[in-house]
Amino acid sequence: MKREQWSSNLGFLLAAAGSAVGLGNLWKFPYIAGSNGGAIFLVVYLILLALLGVPLLLSEMAVGRSTHKNAIDACKAIHPKWGFVGGAGVLGALIILSYYSVIGGWVLKYFFLYLFGAPDGDAAAYFDQFSARTAEPILWHIGFGLICVLIVSFGVSKGIERVSKLFLPMLVVALVILVIYAMTLPGSMQGVKFLFFPDRTHVTSIGDLGTIIVRAMGQVFFSMSIGMGTLITYGSYLDKNANLQKNAIVIPIFDLLIALLAGLAILPCVFSVGMEPTAGSGLLFQALPHVFETMHFGRAFAVLFFALVFFAAVTSAISLLESIVAFLIDRLHWKRQTAALLSGATFLLLGFGSSLSFGLWSDRTFLGLRFFDWMVFLSDNVLMPIGGFFLCILVGYLWGVPNLLREVSSGGRYHLHATRTLRFVLRVLAPLMIAVIFVVSLAAMF
Ligand code: TRP
Repeated sequence: MKREQWSSNLGFLLAAAGSAVGLGNLWKFPYIAGSNGGAIFLVVYLILLALLGVPLLLSEMAVGRSTHKNAIDACKAIHPKWGFVGGAGVLGALIILSYYSVIGGWVLKYFFLYLFGAPDGDAAAYFDQFSARTAEPILWHIGFGLICVLIVSFGVSKGIERVSKLFLPMLVVALVILVIYAMTLPGSMQGVKFLFFPDRTHVTSIGDLGTIIVRAMGQVFFSMSIGMGTLITYGSYLDKNANLQKNAIVIPIFDLLIALLAGLAILPCVFSVGMEPTAGSGLLFQALPHVFETMHFGRAFAVLFFALVFFAAVTSAISLLESIVAFLIDRLHWKRQTAALLSGATFLLLGFGSSLSFGLWSDRTFLGLRFFDWMVFLSDNVLMPIGGFFLCILVGYLWGVPNLLREVSSGGRYHLHATRTLRFVLRVLAPLMIAVIFVVSLAAMF
């Protein structure tokens, strides 16, 4: 059977940008940036994005396109013993997807909640009660997961690409409307300052700077969807005419812009009602609902906001699912629908544990972490750095930079820039940084 393809490079760009733009931009970035020195964090983030994000993105796309295979077989094609790099990615994708879909379920719930009314009583308490229930969050999680399974069942260009082409522009429009509104709120400048003002009180020692670098690198990896072979898989559906180098610049810029816009939409709202920003579910499901309660047209903005978050989450989740599905199709020759359904069932089941972590299983911990925290830890702190590290070695040494450059230039068709820097980054700088940060973050954990 002929391998599927994107209908155009633009289709790929939207799908890859859709993969990148997700919960990472909306609920992690504004808070992490603001609470780690504002502008100081942004500068570090920008440097790491250019220095690590772009080369790794480029490598993943090139490995995918040159082999036209899923992440595991693509790595194997480069070196028969190195399939494990893709394997770590596919496993990581499954793990991320399992908890991502639980959060996606919450987003769906909140979308409908505001469409038909509003949370009653205190918004923060409402979320604590809702997430601690046993059945309801799991049902929303199943709903979100099935939407992803359905989209992926339709295939690369008819499913993933079509949905990305629809959802991404809608997301941008909704976000811009929210930013404009947020800027008119009293006290909005405080939010802008939180994000952009270089706050030196967070950076008083070398250790603080180290913490900022560790956090910024984790954020670059997660936000750009790097290290899990997602972009190997997406790259494998590209044809030889696509300009990979240009793609590797456009996607990070777009991802960064969305993250900044998210900060400009969310932070002014939070400050305008005299609250302090937090990360994660506290921001999206507790602080913001409180804001929506107090502002004009709050309900309408809430519906718009949760629709936007839903679009962002779906286009990321389908990229994770496709990494797994592509492997099952290539290797086991399963039909796409079967592969999507069975991998769907697997991540849904795994997600039950994460969902229950907020209620029934909240006391069940292992080394102090709940099931949900373990999933996040395993994917973000273990599999992602391992995937990233070995990808650098695989591409930088085993495949070799000349082969990489041949692929990136489409056999000499495109002129390449900064090839010496790329070589240095892949062979020395990136593996070194990832290894150091891996050890530091593990040490901090235990
Ligand atoms: N980048 C997405 C976000 O910001 C999440 C994501 C999608 C991801 N695919 C990935 C993270 C692959 C790591 C690896 O929310």
